[in-house]
Amino acid sequence: MGIQVYPTTEGMLKAGAKLFMELASTAISDRGTFSVVLSGGSTPQPLFEFLAADKSADLLDWSRIHFFWGDERNVPPDSSESNYRQAYQTLLDPRMIPPSNIHRIKGELDPVKAASLYQKEISDLLLESPPSFDMIFLGMGGDGHTASLFPGTKVVSNPGEYQWVAANQVPQQDTWRITFTPQLINAARTIIFLVSGQTKAETLKRVLEGPFLPEIYPSQLIKPDHGNLIWLVDQAAASNLET
Ligand code: 6PG
Repeated sequence: MGIQVYPTTEGMLKAGAKLFMELASTAISDRGTFSVVLSGGSTPQPLFEFLAADKSADLLDWSRIHFFWGDERNVPPDSSESNYRQAYQTLLDPRMIPPSNIHRIKGELDPVKAASLYQKEISDLLLESPPSFDMIFLGMGGDGHTASLFPGTKVVSNPGEYQWVAANQVPQQDTWRITFTPQLINAARTIIFLVSGQTKAETLKRVLEGPFLPEIYPSQLIKPDHGNLIWLVDQAAASNLET
């Protein structure tokens, strides 16, 4: 596991964009395709905008990149809450990604149905078991959640009861979410956490340097089976770390 600390949020996000371009270029030349899982929330938005506008990203064959989401709110795709909508507006539309390469979670459906459909879609496209994505972006909430693996929720308390995509009731937000399970995330080749801001400094310290308490800090469940885990953080978020 690597922790890379950047003086500014912009520097951290540009490093994430650079990593995306490197991994995509290698995967496309090696295997003709690149599967990437996007996270929601506010942190990755400038990264998406950078990838949409940066001239060096023009060199990528975007038609060979397939986009997925690690979680989604139980809302329709045109909702301001939709992780899909955010990525579509800031990256997928500007880069003219073919609709067949955009694999959104159908948040407008019953969450259990949406999770089941998404798990099948992923299984049909990525033939390994468990499916292994080339790259997964993750955020970390101030409560230590990642994707929609929130503290004290069923998928966090009993991950073994779920396979790869689950509907997770989140009482603390009075809502349902659809989320990758830790098993599916951990099967990826490269997992990137993007964490910024002083408000996350204490939680980041507990996740990275504290005791293993995954029910309280679900981000601790992320331990790749065979791949790489890289934490890209800015100085503000890293301000409480010992190392
Ligand atoms: C979501 C995300 C979630 C997010 C964290 C961090 O659907 O909200 O997938 O896991 O990554 O909550 O969000 P911020 O980047 O906004 O702090």
